[in-house]
Amino acid sequence: MRTSVAVLFLLPLAALAQDAGAILTPKPGPEPRINGPKVYGARPGMPFLYRIPATGMRPMRFAARGLPAGLKLDAATGIINGTTPAKAGPYNLTLRASNARGKAERRFRIVVGDTLALTPPMGWNHWYTYYDRVDDKLFRAAADAMIASGMADYGYQYVNIDDCWMMKPGSTDPTLSGTARDAAGAIRANGRFPDMNALTAYIHARGLKAGLYTSPGPLTCARYEGSYQHEEADARQFAAWGFDFLKYDWCSYRKIATGEDLADRRKPYELMGAILRKQNREIVFNLCQYGMSDVWKWGGEVGGHAWRTTGDLGLEKDTRLPGFYSIAFKNAEHYDYAGPGRWNDPDYILIGVIGNARKIGEAPRRTTLTADEQYAYMSMWALMAAPLFYSGDITRLDDFTLNVLCNAEVIDVDQDPLGKQARVARKTADEFVLIKPLEDGSVAAGLFNLADEPRTIAVTLAEAGLKGRVAARDLWRQKDLGVSQDRFTAAVARHGVSMVRLLPR
Ligand code: GLA
Repeated sequence: MRTSVAVLFLLPLAALAQDAGAILTPKPGPEPRINGPKVYGARPGMPFLYRIPATGMRPMRFAARGLPAGLKLDAATGIINGTTPAKAGPYNLTLRASNARGKAERRFRIVVGDTLALTPPMGWNHWYTYYDRVDDKLFRAAADAMIASGMADYGYQYVNIDDCWMMKPGSTDPTLSGTARDAAGAIRANGRFPDMNALTAYIHARGLKAGLYTSPGPLTCARYEGSYQHEEADARQFAAWGFDFLKYDWCSYRKIATGEDLADRRKPYELMGAILRKQNREIVFNLCQYGMSDVWKWGGEVGGHAWRTTGDLGLEKDTRLPGFYSIAFKNAEHYDYAGPGRWNDPDYILIGVIGNARKIGEAPRRTTLTADEQYAYMSMWALMAAPLFYSGDITRLDDFTLNVLCNAEVIDVDQDPLGKQARVARKTADEFVLIKPLEDGSVAAGLFNLADEPRTIAVTLAEAGLKGRVAARDLWRQKDLGVSQDRFTAAVARHGVSMVRLLPR
């Protein structure tokens, strides 16, 4: 006999429209819940920093069983600091958080070896809100907002500076027009960043990490000083300043490249990848060259931990569907190439108050995406095991935007230790179905309605790679839907999603 979730749980299609704008996810309870990755890559003998992400009432006390010698946990803040062990191997920890309402535990495996970013990096990047309007103060405010908004309690960790922190050759602005490098050739930050070490120290003191940007070309995309022929010196400087992440953006390197072959495309990334590995701190390497020469096939070989697979999402012109769908459709094709330490990067999450990349002088405005489109956006990114970087205004987060960015069960799908990117199970004009196998043998499924009316979408268990009976859990509502056999069926709003976890029974 066939039991169908559809019969039991389907909302009338007409009711779906009224759901628009609704906050679907229940607020976290006062009891502790530990979030974020369960596995974490580190290199031997390196500075280590990790803030245990946990929701629940404060004050909270933290503890860790199995912490290797050399690492220390601050019980009040949950920040682990120190030096990673010299000996490679897995270190199995149990993290614990407790408060007046209860306690929670979560396993956490630090794998000391060669590979960083065993799960997709998460954080904030300034580009799509602030463009060239950046200074030291903004990134301190961003770090504060990452903590105060609760984003850090869900695993958001990197505070990343994009373009425009360097001097700008030819500029008449006094803060940008100094010499780009000192007498010894070391790159200088522009006058808006008086002390990079102090800035990264501020970010690190909160248990967060700091990211920076440059180009292998003589100039960045916004025509600031790039790293061409200064690669060693610049990487050394970034490490000395205390940065933990580098985005390396092709830009004017196109004038330097001598051809369009694979070797020409790999060359600047190979060079910087090797240099970064020689530094005495861990630096996650984010390749940005818009997918040329099938970067997903070799980005990992040159030391990249994530690589943009497409052009800029913020410049994508909407067709029938908003631009993020077409970026996602392209990125989704490369699922076979993603894995722990090597992620396809479809660009940032542009929701909330956000700028207009086609008119960067314009004041940022609230997104025009519908609520359902925003749920679809975040679901696709999590299912595709994409780096999760918010790029809207982190200092002006509203409850709805936070609810989309901070659903612990959706983030668990993105951060799943198995590190598989969802496979495309179906793509038609009206339906898009993604299936992501998870470490515990369950499967996360995204049923996306591309049509302009509500629609009932089904996925068979065979399509999901499962058989028998499954318990379905609605991840946005964090609600069990019951048991189904043969297929899972859901009513899905226009441009929206049903995102579920299917657990074999
Ligand atoms: C390129 C990149 C963007 C951003 C800008 C900065 O367009 O793809 O992500 O870094 O450069 O100028």
